Amino acid sequence: MTNAHTDPAPLTASKSTAITGTITVPGDKSISHRSIMFGAITIGETMVSGLLEGEDVLATAAAMRAMGASIEKGDDGLWRIHGTGLGGLHEPNETLDMGNSGTSTRLLMGLIGAHNITATMNGDASLSKRPMNRVIKPLEQMGIRFEASEGGRLPLKIIGAQDAMAFQYRLPVASAQVKSAILLAGLNATGRTTVIEEKPTRDHTENMLRHFGVDVEIENLEDGAQAISVIGGQHLQPCAIDVPADPSSAAFPTVAALLSEGSNLTITNIGTNERRFGLFETLIDMGADIEIKNKRTQGGEPVADIIVRASALKGITVPESRVPSMIDEFPILAVAASCAEGTTIMTGLEELRVKESDRLALMAKGLKACGVSLEEGEDSLTIHGTGRPPHGLKEGDAAIATELDHRIAMAFLVLGGVSANPITIDDSAPIKTSFPNFVELMEEIGCNYA
Ligand code: S3P
Repeated sequence: MTNAHTDPAPLTASKSTAITGTITVPGDKSISHRSIMFGAITIGETMVSGLLEGEDVLATAAAMRAMGASIEKGDDGLWRIHGTGLGGLHEPNETLDMGNSGTSTRLLMGLIGAHNITATMNGDASLSKRPMNRVIKPLEQMGIRFEASEGGRLPLKIIGAQDAMAFQYRLPVASAQVKSAILLAGLNATGRTTVIEEKPTRDHTENMLRHFGVDVEIENLEDGAQAISVIGGQHLQPCAIDVPADPSSAAFPTVAALLSEGSNLTITNIGTNERRFGLFETLIDMGADIEIKNKRTQGGEPVADIIVRASALKGITVPESRVPSMIDEFPILAVAASCAEGTTIMTGLEELRVKESDRLALMAKGLKACGVSLEEGEDSLTIHGTGRPPHGLKEGDAAIATELDHRIAMAFLVLGGVSANPITIDDSAPIKTSFPNFVELMEEIGCNYA
């Protein structure tokens, strides 16, 4: 998988028609990863429907297979996982290839580290630049050892603990990946492991562990933080998981529909967990006509259908407290803000610099090339919209640099659907990590890619 993106696949988006129809986007990436990992440490059959079959999740599946789990897709479209039981992961014979996936890497560093095995991980050029010390440092306190490349990066070797020690840790960054890595190590540690988070990050690990029968305690502390605890040694019970559609993927057709005249798009079965739904709240604050219907619960997670109609958006100041609930959505919000009337101010974005790419830098550079007026700060982005889409790329301009970042690629394709001139991105291949049928689905509703 590391070499999967050696041949860049440029793609050009030209003016779309009105965006119309009813679609379902693929399964939630975070929930899909966890369903495979947790199924793989459960004895008995875990059955998953709606799994995201993107490269990131397939990297998780390959890693768990290499450590003894059986993970197969049936003719009925369901994935069946037979795990090794908690503490039963086998030592992999080969290097685990984590591809582009930070979630696979960080969560598995915790899970593997609490097993008495050794494993080596590598990844693509993007993943190899991302910081792993944020999980290495706390996991070392639990007795897990790492031999990492310079700066705490991949490739790295995990030397699992014989008896991982429970641990209490206050997160210095708002990161569900760090929280989850520690909780997963805590599952196979002796005693009670607690993670304290000051800002609420996505809680799919907590929700799904409960779904697998694990007792996860959540306590609201006086200072407003939350303490999440697990006692080690609890065995997971096999279960059925119905993965909702990914709100982070739904974000792209949503913004395409808002910005294209005459649009009326229905997107079904989207996960509406409030720790993931910040973009939709922000768009509504900007004046978006988004109707949320048929709210229901599916496998412990809230879901709904949404109807999106073309809207004139206004610039706003995005509340900083909302950042963790829309951390992956700033590239597409920046596109919406570029077409809105007035200034949109986004602050508290330091984490965007260490995602699949430096998203602040790439969005600022790409949007400027398309004619957007903006200021990039150390951890902020201010966009001055005119109420009309920008001109897009001019003849002779270089293609937009995406640096193996799926969300940068999709965001600029959405912008190309409304800008005066087409927009070409240098590589669409990484879109397969999270949204394998993006091009087909977007073309089905009115987009124009070549
Ligand atoms: C994820 C958490 C987020 C997010 C990533 C998926 C997860 O990262 O950006 O795409 O599944 O836990 P951080 O927790 O590092 O912010």
